[in-house]
Amino acid sequence: MIDSIRGNSNSMNNNVGLYDWETIIIEGKAKIIIPNPELFKRPDGVYEPSWAPVFYNPRMKFSRDIAVAVSVTYFDDKEYFYIEPLAGSGVRSIRYSLETGGRGIVNDLDPIAYYYIKRNIRLNNVEDRVEAYNSEANTLLSSIRTNGIVVDLIDVDPYGSPIPFIDSTVYAIAKNGLIAITATDTGPLNCSYEEACYRRYHAKCYKVDFVKEMGLRILLGSIILRAASHDVLLLPILSYYHDYYYRAYFISIKSANEANKALKKNIGYILYCADNYYREYVPATNIESIIGEKICERQVVIGPLWIGLLGVKEFIEKILLTLEKKSEGLKHLLHIKKFLLNLNQEIDINTPYYRYDLFCGYLKMNMPPRDKLISELKNRGFKATKSHFDPRGIKTNASYEEFISILKSLRKS
Ligand SMILES: C[S@@+](CC[C@H](N)C(=O)[O-])C[C@H]1O[C@@H](n2cnc3c(N)ncnc32)[C@H](O)[C@@H]1O
Repeated sequence: MIDSIRGNSNSMNNNVGLYDWETIIIEGKAKIIIPNPELFKRPDGVYEPSWAPVFYNPRMKFSRDIAVAVSVTYFDDKEYFYIEPLAGSGVRSIRYSLETGGRGIVNDLDPIAYYYIKRNIRLNNVEDRVEAYNSEANTLLSSIRTNGIVVDLIDVDPYGSPIPFIDSTVYAIAKNGLIAITATDTGPLNCSYEEACYRRYHAKCYKVDFVKEMGLRILLGSIILRAASHDVLLLPILSYYHDYYYRAYFISIKSANEANKALKKNIGYILYCADNYYREYVPATNIESIIGEKICERQVVIGPLWIGLLGVKEFIEKILLTLEKKSEGLKHLLHIKKFLLNLNQEIDINTPYYRYDLFCGYLKMNMPPRDKLISELKNRGFKATKSHFDPRGIKTNASYEEFISILKSLRKS
């Protein structure tokens, strides 16, 4: 996962002295000094980034690779100003400055992280493009606007939930700026901890068959509602689930009117039947229509959550085009193409994915091959694709009834 490890040395490296318990990793175009991961393993032998003196998670390289591709595309390779308020080793920001037109502020509250950030800035010779701060994230973001700084990108990449940082992020971001947000608290979002989901995200969840998509929709809904209270619409242009975390990119549209329109159309609930996996979106403005309605024995109402599209197809296509156009400079990012192509297939299918293995259980039939089911849906004129959320998930615009009927037809054949 790490591109390479250059090994330990206690000699001087680019004027940055390396302790013998440190190492330099190479990720993208950045060289990053970190405490040697080999020395910070748990008793079971697994490297746990939060056990190390400074946070560096090699598994998040994929998230950072996508972040670089998104920024190059969104800012069209031009110069822009970013803040990374929770930065750990600084790897993400240093990559923004080496691989995109980013100049910015890289901040961490932890003095040890701040020490590493400063050394990593020097190691990569980006002192003229990156400034290190040692502040509390909300304090820093809240002070930015009063200092007259225009921030084009804020990348919020905390431990767990990003909700404590949303208000100050929305306050600090420029008009039409880009906000990138990570959530790693998948337990609450995937409804393993129902009370924590409600406490953090103010949404009632349920262990539905499309639980990973529900988690993303709850996260988006909660962030978008918070931003709306500042008269800002955060429009999701790309969002996904990967390797036990959620990631979402929004454009910040500073308009109460646009926020009103989006809330009316795209904030709502899901009416769900645990007996037969039936699902239906209900806009919040229409909630009265289902009060008292009983459509099945084990009926639940989930939300509030985002019931709109999880991204903008044209934007994903633009990222793919950027990767192609700049194939020389972005060669190290080409591995994200497959993931983005899959995302592009499903991004304009708004119905939550169907876990077809569970549907087959419910219909008491053997599972047809996934590709056969997808091509049958397509033959009948529907959009259909495998879902990035779950290998057993099918994304299709076929209604619940149509999906069941097509599955049953495969049993007959
Ligand atoms: C998940 S790590 C960041 C990883 C980094 N963004 C990356 O891509 O490698 C979260 C970091 O946030 C810092 N942190 C936690 N609470 C903070 C706060 N309130 N203000 C600033 N930094 C904070 C921690 O010290 C930690 O280094």
